Amino acid sequence: MKLKKKIGKFMQRVVDHAMGNGLMQEETAASGEKYITPGISALIRRSGAEGCVLLKNDGVLPLKEGEEIAVFGRCQLDWFCVGYGSGGDVHAPYRVNLMEGLGNMGAKYNRPLAQAYRAWCGSEEHRADEGWWGHWPMNHPEMPLAAHMAESAAKTSDAALVVIGRAAGEDRENTLEKGSYYLTEEELAMLDAVTAAFRRTAVVLNIGSIMDMEWTERYGERLSAVLIAWQGGMESGNALADVLYGKVNPCGRLADTIARRYEDYPSSGHFGGREYNEYAEGIFVGYRHFDTCAKEAVLYPFGYGLSYTEFRLMPKSLKRSAHGAGGPEGAVTEMVVEVKNIGGCSGREVVMLWCHPPKGCIEKPAHVLTAFAKTRELAPGESQELTLKCDDKAISSYDERRHAFLLEPGEYRFAANDVEAGSFLLQETAVVEKCEAVCSPEVNLRQRILDNLPGEAAVKRDKAPILGDVASGKDTMDDFVAGLSDDELEALTRGHGMMNSPLGAPGNAGVLGGVIPGLREKGVLPVVCADGPAGLRLQKYCALVPCGTALACTWNCELVEELYRLVGAEMKHYGVDVLLAPGMNIHRNPLCGRNFEYFSEDPLLSGKMAAAVVRGVQSMGGACCPKHFACNNQETKRNICDSRLSERALREIYLRNFEICIRESSPHTVMTSYNKVNGVWSHYNYDLVTTVLRREWGYEGMVMTDWWMQKSGSPEFPKLKNNAYRVRAQVDVLMPGDMGHVAKKYKSDGSLLKTLGQPEGITRGELQRTARNVLELVLKIKYGEKGEKR
Ligand code: BGC
Repeated sequence: MKLKKKIGKFMQRVVDHAMGNGLMQEETAASGEKYITPGISALIRRSGAEGCVLLKNDGVLPLKEGEEIAVFGRCQLDWFCVGYGSGGDVHAPYRVNLMEGLGNMGAKYNRPLAQAYRAWCGSEEHRADEGWWGHWPMNHPEMPLAAHMAESAAKTSDAALVVIGRAAGEDRENTLEKGSYYLTEEELAMLDAVTAAFRRTAVVLNIGSIMDMEWTERYGERLSAVLIAWQGGMESGNALADVLYGKVNPCGRLADTIARRYEDYPSSGHFGGREYNEYAEGIFVGYRHFDTCAKEAVLYPFGYGLSYTEFRLMPKSLKRSAHGAGGPEGAVTEMVVEVKNIGGCSGREVVMLWCHPPKGCIEKPAHVLTAFAKTRELAPGESQELTLKCDDKAISSYDERRHAFLLEPGEYRFAANDVEAGSFLLQETAVVEKCEAVCSPEVNLRQRILDNLPGEAAVKRDKAPILGDVASGKDTMDDFVAGLSDDELEALTRGHGMMNSPLGAPGNAGVLGGVIPGLREKGVLPVVCADGPAGLRLQKYCALVPCGTALACTWNCELVEELYRLVGAEMKHYGVDVLLAPGMNIHRNPLCGRNFEYFSEDPLLSGKMAAAVVRGVQSMGGACCPKHFACNNQETKRNICDSRLSERALREIYLRNFEICIRESSPHTVMTSYNKVNGVWSHYNYDLVTTVLRREWGYEGMVMTDWWMQKSGSPEFPKLKNNAYRVRAQVDVLMPGDMGHVAKKYKSDGSLLKTLGQPEGITRGELQRTARNVLELVLKIKYGEKGEKR
């Protein structure tokens, strides 16, 4: 059996290698001290606990001290702390599973049962298989539960806890099968046996993204409680114990809609395509679909989550203030609401400001989330006033004929959660923002690019000054760039050529900037990148933080920012400059393997969470790299698949989250996605990266590719191939550096400089523009104001 598995792994690796899959599988072991950044464990625990979402509770939770619980399900030990791939592959110094968490809490649990699980899970035959890149287990086969085990446990224990776990990841989609999206026969048998023996059964779900939950209805009252604990990082067990025993009152809310059946998700018929996916549902993703036309299909709505206490919301005022002259452009709607804890124990409430727009010529969702806030911990009887604000863009619709975000006339009604909060009336259509048509075959892209080609700002000279002198203001960036040779300009547009570069900390994802000696001599220091988002992916022990979905479910941006401030401190400790995070693609479909890394089906929640991550990390001097820009909504054939969607869906859903993140947190870098968007790979996509990101949103940072890219030539400028095509789009840096999937050393394919100076070739102005984007990053994170190296 073991030998068979080994041969299987080997053969699969050969195939993966030949096909260029699984490139990220640096087999890395951690070494060195088990360093733990001061304070980070407590924050991981708190955010893990705040992310837990209580879906159902008849009073069994919180568990009472002294009550004995019987814990079923092997994930009590083989707990999934995170999902798989670059976004989860962190060498945590420790991982607390549920049983350890209960032990730390001093909880009373059924010892013989716990012992039976320990023996079974620890046996050679049943030990959890870790799998390998792209072939990780989605679940661990459950221990068959003889009926008498549940019955005898019920004789001494007061309540049962059943744990069910799942994981998916990069290159590893969830599937519509038992053991992934659905429960297995063994899990159902376990639920049957436990609910037959116990009067009170609570189910805990240890998952990274939505799975089928229809069975919660089928079991009905036989289930006393259902709690989603997600994948809470290295403090998972402690965080969950806090919630189970009421040390933390559940205050997580769903970041996605849980529908009755998979088929109810509007993308279900258009997911998993190997060449393309038609985003036929348009903007009607998640609650935008369900709350508009399929309410009956919802099992647990977006934003849902119970508490051990109760709150009353009293909206106090709603006002709309127009900024500046000329009407609604830039107007802000502001709601003040009082939240009172009217229950019996302390807790926190999440307030969501919903807008119900009027019907008009443009089809709109029934309502959209426009802002949210979380109260502090309120004691019984205590109140807090919260102010929530949203700008007009949050309530506007994109009109594809006028290429503008509009407010159509009519009444805009607002609600705080489900309490009416007021409205305003708009007499006439208001243009919130005028845009250019993008990512559409109808655009004359060639002309657009030609109209915006940069001139050669810095005229070539013999020698560049030292970058430190640019930092201190002694020299200008123009002078510096003018003195770079063609080869140096080329080197700035790509990484050092490999993952785990010797220029950076062991296990790094790649290095950019000072990748050749000539550049380093001029003070261009190497910039070291490491994955994210669940912590640093290095050959070092690093903190493993809760998965993105769990963080989104906290609805607590301050907490997430604080947590990532400490991740930023850890970056400093290990010499990492850029965290390849946050992952922030929209949860378009529950089967996407990387949903665990990403935040939500909703762009506002996703954008705000991402901005919190960026602010946290960058406050410590490092850089973030929101990814994957844009429409990386599945793992199947992710590097060739085309995401085909309307401009409206692109702008209102799939770019909106990035826009919020960019505008609110100014990340120093952004990563493009592997896939195509309406026929053009993101790493060549001028409209995405130059027209929208830089021109419309004013982004001034650097853009890098996801790891390696597909070769292609520009349809608009046939001479431009590969790197020249990429640099014209202002995708500045090819990471980790070479085009070959197997080469360990950088080999230039010559495509960038080949056409330099030729008619319609790449221009020096474009090379300089990209060089500036990269050098500004080096200045920001490697130099102080006086020109000193950091
Ligand atoms: C992933 C990125 C990751 C990069 C480096 C790629 O396969 O898509 O998210 O940052 O590898 O590990």
